[in-house]
Amino acid sequence: VTKGVILVGGPSKGTRMRPLSLDCAKPLLPIAGKPMVWHPLAALAKVPGLTEILIIGFYEDSVMSGFIKDAKREFPNIGISYLREYRPLGTAGGFTTVIRDSILRPPVPQNIFICNIDICSSWPLTEMMELHGKHRGVGTILGVNVKKETATNYGCIVSDPSSLVLHYVEKPESWISNMVNGGVYLFDKSLFDEIKIAMDDKAARAAEDPLLQLQSDEILQLEQDVIVPLAAAKKMYVYETNDFWRQIKTAASAVTASRLYLNRFKTIAPELLASSSAVIIPPSYIDPSAIIDPTAKIGPNVAIGPGVRIGEGVRVKDAIVMEGSTIERHACVLNSIVGNNCQVGPWARVDGEPEPEQDSKGKISVTVLATEVTLAPETLVRSCIVLPNKSLSKNSANQVLL
Ligand code: GDD
Ligand code: GTP
Repeated sequence: VTKGVILVGGPSKGTRMRPLSLDCAKPLLPIAGKPMVWHPLAALAKVPGLTEILIIGFYEDSVMSGFIKDAKREFPNIGISYLREYRPLGTAGGFTTVIRDSILRPPVPQNIFICNIDICSSWPLTEMMELHGKHRGVGTILGVNVKKETATNYGCIVSDPSSLVLHYVEKPESWISNMVNGGVYLFDKSLFDEIKIAMDDKAARAAEDPLLQLQSDEILQLEQDVIVPLAAAKKMYVYETNDFWRQIKTAASAVTASRLYLNRFKTIAPELLASSSAVIIPPSYIDPSAIIDPTAKIGPNVAIGPGVRIGEGVRVKDAIVMEGSTIERHACVLNSIVGNNCQVGPWARVDGEPEPEQDSKGKISVTVLATEVTLAPETLVRSCIVLPNKSLSKNSANQVLL
């Protein structure tokens, strides 16, 4: 038996997703037409022998309840629940208090998957299980290769040819390797013993270090407090994937992730994609309740949410259009995210640059219209972040419109 845990964090994080995350919690932001949290959930649901998925975070229950209801309906054979941390406990802190009983209740799992939410990946979970079954370690990490310049933003991994992790450093100050922690783990149930050891160890260190005493004794980080000592004890392995993988931290990366997932749907779930018609260039996702004028041209890499209306002659490409928005006739939306209930007037143009390969500090690439933004006819908005409820009638470029 296997169980799955998805770490969704809480409202204090996700600041780089603003202004989108002002109205829609990060786990629910639509990526390729599905809430962000749906992607790891659907991947876990396919794992043979997986009985239960626990989503853990510190969002209010009411934020997640609609999603949980839908997920239970979609995956009726799997137990799915959201468990709330009363405050941020770190990536492993919730294991001792919030989810321990749920995970360890029968059927007691032999293995536990842990997934970060803010990544997009092909989720090679069966491959990880295969490797995990072959070694005697406690855990297997998904390893991905990133550009040398960006590696230090991640947990960095040095391994040997047998996939044994020789060295793990969380966000090191200087470069140690291009292989990084992809934010997906498979652990033996003895993880709980390791967490207990890490807790005791932290308490012992706190007794000597007044600075540590200030920190809550319930906070525990999976990476620094559990994986680092496990790697030092030669008990961690890494499954290296060459398939696609990205972090989803910014609005621009949401558009990239949407593109990667839509491309993947072409092979694994073509039924999810909008059926091809003369004006829809695949891959695109169009919610069945959206109304699209037959003369509009949509795609590739477009995800259109529920209740959206697209007028005649409209062009949409490389974009996410969220629930309830209207794009009026002959408007054009490229490399952008249009938030909930926006109104883009006739002949308006909303465009941006694709996500840059590397974080170009302060420069806006993808245009983001937050909730209920209105654009007057023929307005041009290029590489801008537009805050909620704004009405724009002047052209703007490269700025945050408050
Ligand atoms: N439940 C809960 N409680 N979840 C949390 C908490 C918490 O207190 N803090 C973070 N998370 C969740 C986030 O929602 C995310 O899914 C995951 O834990 C990791 O988030 P961060 O702690 O912000 O770390 P990061 O994303 O900068 O780096 C992590 O992911 C990288 C891959 O994307 C690390 O694991 C890196 O080593 C890794 O390379
Ligand atoms: P395709 O014809 O789709 O292959 O696009 P393209 O190779 O011309 O690419 P480009 O990214 O330049 O533009 C994408 C599409 O949007 C093109 O079909 C353009 O004609 C259309 N387009 C560009 N600007 C506007 C605009 O302001 N309004 C409208 N309605 N369409 C536009």
